[in-house]
Amino acid sequence: MKIYFAPLEGITGHIFRNAYNEIYGHIDKYFAPFISPAEKCPVTPRDRKEIAPENNKGINLVPQILTCRSDGFIEAAKEIRAMGYKEVNLNLGCPSGTVCAKGKGAGFLPETLLLQRFLDDIYSYAAQEDLKISIKTRLGFFDPDEFYDLVDIFNGFPLSELIVHPRIRSDFYIGEVRKEYFSYALKNSQNPLVYNGNIFSCKDYDDLSDSFGITLDPVMAGRGLISDPSLADKLKGIASETDIVKLRRLHDTVYHAYQEIISPDIHVLYKMRELWTYWRILFDGKDRDIKRLLKAKKYREYEDIVYRILEGFSEQ
Ligand SMILES: Cc1cc2nc3c(=O)[nH]c(=O)nc-3n(C[C@H](O)[C@H](O)[C@H](O)COP(=O)(O)O)c2cc1C
Repeated sequence: MKIYFAPLEGITGHIFRNAYNEIYGHIDKYFAPFISPAEKCPVTPRDRKEIAPENNKGINLVPQILTCRSDGFIEAAKEIRAMGYKEVNLNLGCPSGTVCAKGKGAGFLPETLLLQRFLDDIYSYAAQEDLKISIKTRLGFFDPDEFYDLVDIFNGFPLSELIVHPRIRSDFYIGEVRKEYFSYALKNSQNPLVYNGNIFSCKDYDDLSDSFGITLDPVMAGRGLISDPSLADKLKGIASETDIVKLRRLHDTVYHAYQEIISPDIHVLYKMRELWTYWRILFDGKDRDIKRLLKAKKYREYEDIVYRILEGFSEQ
């Protein structure tokens, strides 16, 4: 079974990715958070650092591009190709207001004529350059029924994979996924499909596989892998329990690496807080400590709480 790590902007950058890969591994592809090409500088030095092969050793990484302009996509893809990558991913799912207002991400989905032209351009370029392009999409912007036309459009191009997050823009990441539309894709997509959305446990995975009547493979997970970093091992049958000793190693590796590159200290703590909003579900009965940890303003205060929580659980 193949597991893909979904891109989560602000969380799964190269620091987290390297730490995760070293400590847990067993991820078949990591998707990098999006690069949004600007006219004068399609791939910024910061983007470059994130995806540079030397900063992603031993990692099967797919960079992602977010744009509605084919010239911008192609310029960015050229730079990414020159770095040695053979696959890029197009983001057609981002629900953020500022992104959609510019017609990008999920905001590109209702513009079917423009989308068709955009795909003509980028897939012609990809054919000449021997570059694979996969697409990560939602079902639509306003209405999930937009998906029927989108599948027809995607069928006209050689997508290396079509990753479907079965929600529309206004669903953001909340509530049930719209499973019936993924079933439609299973019947009608001529491109290889990858399911993405709400896999937080083996039970979630089994229930989804049952409801589709297939073994979902490959599958992409994001928040589930952050919340329980042992999830990939559990799905692959390598582990049955969440390993708190490994979680502590992940915590320490990420925390120390952020301290080296981020300042002031409070910004490191902001990054760690975001991770703890996911990890808190692992620590039943520790709500009060976690609330205090989320407010900590100094490393010392933060560390006292974190290690008390982690030590309490690794002794169990
Ligand atoms: C904080 C956050 C940042 C995200 N950043 C990206 C991104 O850069 N590119 C992208 O395609 N999707 C992004 N997503 C969407 C995820 O990749 C994924 O599709 C979504 O979380 C649903 O999958 P999950 O239920 O397994 O988490 C982001 C989601 C979250 C919550």
